[in-house]
Amino acid sequence: MLTRRPDAIRPSEITPESVFHGRRHLLAAAGFAGAGLLLGRGGRAEDIPKDLRRLAGVRKSPLSSTEAANSFEDISHYNNFYEFGLDKSDPADYSAGFRPRPWTVTIDGEAAVKGRFTLEDILKPHPLEERIYRFRCVEAWSMVIPWVGFPLGDLIRRFRPTSQAKYVAFETVLRPAEMPGQRSPVLDWPYVEGLSMAEAMHPLTILAVGVYGVELPNQNGAPLRLVVPWKYGFKGIKSIVRISFTARQPRTTWSTSAPDEYGFLANVNPKVDHPRWSQATERRIGSPLFSPKQPTLPFNGYAAQVASLYTGVDLVRNF
Ligand code: MTE
Repeated sequence: MLTRRPDAIRPSEITPESVFHGRRHLLAAAGFAGAGLLLGRGGRAEDIPKDLRRLAGVRKSPLSSTEAANSFEDISHYNNFYEFGLDKSDPADYSAGFRPRPWTVTIDGEAAVKGRFTLEDILKPHPLEERIYRFRCVEAWSMVIPWVGFPLGDLIRRFRPTSQAKYVAFETVLRPAEMPGQRSPVLDWPYVEGLSMAEAMHPLTILAVGVYGVELPNQNGAPLRLVVPWKYGFKGIKSIVRISFTARQPRTTWSTSAPDEYGFLANVNPKVDHPRWSQATERRIGSPLFSPKQPTLPFNGYAAQVASLYTGVDLVRNF
């Protein structure tokens, strides 16, 4: 990522992408807290800040991965959330002033039921589940994350999309006073994303409200964010304030910013390299120093469940 308008880049920051990533990974592997990382799995409940409310009545999902989850520290201190800065440590460092409550979500477009709903209205009918999912970032690193959420499809059904609704578009809140990154033109704010209706309705697609049994930390997209486990992480739009049903494919932030690098589908695909790096392997954040990268799996390991959504689609052209 890190596609920036030239006027937003200070000369001292210009580092070739490969060097930039290599250096961060080395720092990460060496356990430098200064790189925004605390390594090692297992640091669980004791790391969770006391001000994050524990979510009640969360049931375990049979759709969870059996892989070991990353620690709360990894998950909450190695983030992409450009509204709070470009470095992986910036979201944790600069999001304390963000106020995720009270919160409303606007539902509009091609649906029978529309309007502006409080977060409580949005969440009320939906039992919460823990879904432990593999998470693959387009930058060729990965984690395993115990999200707490509910199927997006269950929410969509409540608003009764019309037969015209072929896509679902999402928008992040625009609050430059609370989100320092929005004060510079690194991306075209607000951040927007989208899914086809079939992708949005797929049972693996969730809206997350928590992680590790507590509400989402600000840096992970409080109070409500999208998680689509077979797609690169940038599809997982954070701090959602609008969900729109559309007839046409919606504009998305990264595919507008760098169309040659980030497509609308963004399915994890080890065979389609990013123009500036390979997608064949990934480094699991928190893995021991100098451990080998692991192969990236088609659809991030969820091919059996989702490949049929793309029958007849050329996934090299439609990356
Ligand atoms: N959503 C918003 N609004 N802004 C962002 O910069 N970054 C995306 C995605 N959602 C981003 C966003 C990217 S590139 C990734 S990899 C994931 O969030 C990171 O999610 P995490 O920090 O919770 O791991």
